[in-house]
Amino acid sequence: MKRPQVVETVSDLRAVVREWRKQGLSVAMVPTMGALHDGHVSLMRIGLERADRCVVSIFVNPTQFAPTEDLDKYPRQLAADLDRLAQAGVQLAFTPTAAEMYPEAFAAKVTIGGPSAGLETDFRPTFFEGVATVVAKLFLQALPDLAIFGEKDYQQLCVVKKLCRDLDIPVEIVGAPTVRDAEGLAMSSRNAYLSPDELAQARELNKILRHAAQALHLGADAQQTLDEARRQILAAGFGSVDYVEARESDTLARWRRDREGRILVAARLGATRLIDNVEIVRS
Ligand code: PAJ
Repeated sequence: MKRPQVVETVSDLRAVVREWRKQGLSVAMVPTMGALHDGHVSLMRIGLERADRCVVSIFVNPTQFAPTEDLDKYPRQLAADLDRLAQAGVQLAFTPTAAEMYPEAFAAKVTIGGPSAGLETDFRPTFFEGVATVVAKLFLQALPDLAIFGEKDYQQLCVVKKLCRDLDIPVEIVGAPTVRDAEGLAMSSRNAYLSPDELAQARELNKILRHAAQALHLGADAQQTLDEARRQILAAGFGSVDYVEARESDTLARWRRDREGRILVAARLGATRLIDNVEIVRS
């Protein structure tokens, strides 16, 4: 099992990628915040299937956390993460410091409209600005041919696609299916915060969503179905539901029955905020 090369600076990252380019090799990138699980590994596999080399960035990006959020306690486990990269066959890890990414007097912000409206933005108003800024920087630093993002963070995937389209960033964005545990719970670094009881409750979330998606598929009224899903999520033990909405899959506009759609949810279980989404099969 070959260990990945680890670089911490933009100039070292660029030097490695430049060398690959000289050899005519194609490059995939998987941006992450570490605490890697099988969901992240599935993105690396896709990267390595579709390109000759894969670079994984591990950076807990402070600009996408609000002051009240879990930046300080976000799980950090670099040694275990590098083992995962080695197992997956990833060639390069980029692990910059916050000072490398955001030197003193850093003043840029990338704002993407369109798909960032509503959903997460209603509850985390500066989140996508932080994500778009760091992803734009990572793309310009590494200049990959393609980058892989999980459908788990479906709105983020749409925002990143729009970022590349609107700013003519020549990186192909590939969406990857959500990896779940045997009971359907979407894998997430934040699942590490859940107690055993909460874990059992969290596993209800996907079942409720799938049930609602099936009801919509069969023609049930959208608002009633979503209201019912909200009630079921609360009954499963969640403390509050930030949103449960049906949106069009590509634009994230309000879902219309003749379009491909997704039900997207964010709900809180104790101190942990979980998000998930499922496809509504077109009727
Ligand atoms: P992070 O939460 O570490 O996720 C990194 C990537 O892994 C994202 O594209 C996310 O959608 C994907 N992912 C997470 N859980 C998954 C699962 N169960 N199945 C499939 N893919 C999954 O998302 C971020 O980091 C950050 O916002 C980032 C894009 C790195 C910018 O800082």
